[in-house]
Amino acid sequence: MKKISLTGIKPTGDLHIGNYFGAIKPALELAKEYDARYFIADYHALNTMKDPKELNSTIRQVAAGWLASGLDPENVIFYRQSSVPEVFELATMLMAFTAKGLMNRAHAYKAASQINIDKGEDTDAGINMGLFSYPVLMAADIIIFDSDVVPVGKDQVQHIEMAQDIAQSINANYGKQILKIPQAAVQGNTAVVPGLDGRKMSKSYSNTIPLFAPENQLKKIIMRIVTNSQGVEEPKDPGESQIYLLYKLFADENEQAELAKLYRAGGMGWGTAKEELFRVTNRCLTPIREKYNDIMADIPALDKILEQGAEKARPIAAATVKRFRKACGID
Ligand code: ADP
Ligand code: TRP
Repeated sequence: MKKISLTGIKPTGDLHIGNYFGAIKPALELAKEYDARYFIADYHALNTMKDPKELNSTIRQVAAGWLASGLDPENVIFYRQSSVPEVFELATMLMAFTAKGLMNRAHAYKAASQINIDKGEDTDAGINMGLFSYPVLMAADIIIFDSDVVPVGKDQVQHIEMAQDIAQSINANYGKQILKIPQAAVQGNTAVVPGLDGRKMSKSYSNTIPLFAPENQLKKIIMRIVTNSQGVEEPKDPGESQIYLLYKLFADENEQAELAKLYRAGGMGWGTAKEELFRVTNRCLTPIREKYNDIMADIPALDKILEQGAEKARPIAAATVKRFRKACGID
C-alpha cells in the first residue's frame, strides 16, 4: 500500500513564493509517489479572518493556486477542511489527551503572548481559543487520514511534533496503535524562502512576492528588494544577497553560475541583478498565472472539484473517528 502524504494551507491571503517553494511544490512532488490528501485549512483561517467576503474569496484563491501549480484532483484528494466535519470531532477527542502546557509552548501562541507582555498588556489580550488550541486542530487534520508524511516549511515542524506527542499518548493509553504517528517532510534547500527585506518571506512581514501578481506588478515588487549600499564596481557575495537566493529558485544551473560570476567580478549593480531575477521569475510564473486566471474565472467548477474531494475524504475520516471512538468506549 502506498504511504500517505498530507498538508494544508490556510487561506489567509495571497499565496506567495515562500508558500509555493516551501509547501506547494514539495507537496506536489510527493504526490507522485504517495497517496496525497491536500486541503484548504479554512477553519484555521477563521482565527484571524473575520471578514466573510475576504475569507470566502481567499478560500477560492488558495484552492485555485494549488490547481494552477499542478495539483491533479484525479490523483490527489483535494478538499476544504470545513467540508470534512469529522476533523472537528476528532479534534475534540484529541483535546482530552492534550496537555494544556503543551499548547502554552506552541510558538504561534508564545509569539502572540510575548507581544502582549512586551507592550505591558494582559498576556492573553486579543488571543482567541482558536489560536491557543491551533496545534490540536492541526493534529486532527493530520491524524484523521493516517498520514505518514506532512510536507511543510520549517516553521511548522513544532506543530507536527505536537501531533506526534498527542497521538503517542493516545496509543500509550490504550496500549495499541490506534493513531498513526506522522513525520514532517521539510525541503532542504528551500526550507526558508527569503522575503524582500531578507527576513523569512511571510504575509505577516509584508515582504512577499505574490505568486499570481501580473507581470508589471511583479517587476515593481522585485525592484523593491532591499539591498545594501555596495556600489556598482564592488565585488559582491551571492550567498549574502536575497536577490541571488531567490534567483536560485528559478534559474537553471548555468544561469546561477553566470550570475554568481557577475556578483564576484564586480561591475554589476543591484538593478541589473534585479532585472535578471525578474526575467527568470516571470518565465516560471507566467504559465501558472495564466492557469490561475482561467480557474478563477469559473468558481462553480472550482467548488465542484473541492466538493468531489470532500466526498472522497469523508469516509476515510469517518473510519478513523470510528476506530478511535471504539477504543475510547464511545461507540
Ligand atoms: P505566511 O508566513 O505568509 O503566513 P503561511 O504560514 O500561511 O505563510 O504558510 C503556508 C505554508 O507555506 C506553510 O507550510 C509554511 O511553512 C510555508 N511557508 C510560508 N512561508 C515560507 C517561506 N518563506 N519559506 C518556506 N516555506 C514557507
Ligand atoms: N498550520 C499550517 C500553516 O500555518 C497549516 C495547516 C493546518 C497544516 N493544518 C495542517 C499544514 C495540517 C499541514 C498539515 O501553514
